Amino acid sequence: MRPDPEAVFAYAAGQVEQAAHGLWPRAKVALGPVVPSVTSYVQQVDVDGRPLFAKLSVLGVSLVSLLRGACGEWPEVLQKQAVYVTSPGALLERERDQLRTLRGVAGLRVPDAAGYERGVLFTEPAHGPTLADLIGKEPDRTADLLGLVVDEVAQGLGQRGVAARVERTEIRERSITATFLRKFNGLSGGTYLRQTDHAVTLTTVVTRLRLAQRVAAPPTRAVVFGDLKPEHAVFPDGDGRPVFLDPGLMRGRPAGDPAKLVSRLVLNLITQPPAARDVRAVLGGVAAFGAAMTARSDRAGRDVWLRQLTVMWLMDTTNILSTYLSAPPGLPLAPHAAAAVSRARQVCDMLDRSTAALTSYRDARSVWRLCLDNAAKAALS
Ligand SMILES: Nc1ncnc2c1ncn2[C@@H]1O[C@H](COP(=O)(O)OP(=O)(O)O)[C@@H](O)[C@H]1O
Ligand SMILES: [Mg+2]
Repeated sequence: MRPDPEAVFAYAAGQVEQAAHGLWPRAKVALGPVVPSVTSYVQQVDVDGRPLFAKLSVLGVSLVSLLRGACGEWPEVLQKQAVYVTSPGALLERERDQLRTLRGVAGLRVPDAAGYERGVLFTEPAHGPTLADLIGKEPDRTADLLGLVVDEVAQGLGQRGVAARVERTEIRERSITATFLRKFNGLSGGTYLRQTDHAVTLTTVVTRLRLAQRVAAPPTRAVVFGDLKPEHAVFPDGDGRPVFLDPGLMRGRPAGDPAKLVSRLVLNLITQPPAARDVRAVLGGVAAFGAAMTARSDRAGRDVWLRQLTVMWLMDTTNILSTYLSAPPGLPLAPHAAAAVSRARQVCDMLDRSTAALTSYRDARSVWRLCLDNAAKAALS
């Protein structure tokens, strides 16, 4: 028996409420709307008139995996969770520590962590348009906005003391490659894909990506943000310095952060396409961003980076699309996730053409350009 979504949500809301009372014993606590997520349980909460976001992770796995029964039946999950939240190094405790590192030695803007109690992390809300909103409004500024976000992150993560702190609080759960290999390992990976309506295409895509990721490049040990989606950069002052949400700092391949940005931006473009002119403007901006990121490298360096970027982009899109496709009916999906499910055919076509290019052409820059062309075709079809 898989855990019942209603039971999981009721438990999570109860945990949020208890944690708030634990942290602020005399406060009046009012639970607000739940933010749909396939990963964590996220809910707005009002504590004595102070608005906060509460976040709870069950066993550090995604809600989709949990509801699909990956951690066993519900009574068993509850037992494991009781141990998990009290042992040091639970996922959201590491996230709290990472927010401190980012705000402290890295000097980046992040939400203030208001408190952490028994697996629940409370953060102050960040208000303002996201990177996705800004690009949606001004597609011609795509390259500049992507550059701004990536530069800001690189500047912060390059500060002295960041790497040593990350070493102690890594969140490897968000790694594109580790997620890909975990999801699509051998037999269970096949079963997983067979439950989607696009099993044949996705199986081919996964096989090609497994090959490509082995030759992409040896893993390097840069510190990366880890979950740098266009929804995780919020601009409270228009387009000044962004506030970064949902860190997953870890050592990883340097192209990982740009790859996640490109992956999610292109996915949104295919699944919720704007006017044709704007599709071209955004993809032109992504191409210019890739060129700017490699402008100072020699040819070999540029090719290694572009290849990593392309492989990780396509792996991340495969990861998230299959997560959305296998979400159980009781799990509410955010509008962009629901859109990805209804436009899955177009996304699969893009993945199919692009992974075919990846395995047939040697030249990294040609492959990158072909992939962007495939994205345009998918968005405009
Ligand atoms: N402190 C915050 N300020 C503003 N929005 C937030 C905050 N925390 C969470 N959110 C909103 O909730 C969404 C999900 O929270 P997030 O921390 O990204 O959890 P998940 O691990 O499920 O991705 C975010 O993308 C954002 O829209
Ligand atoms: Mg998130």
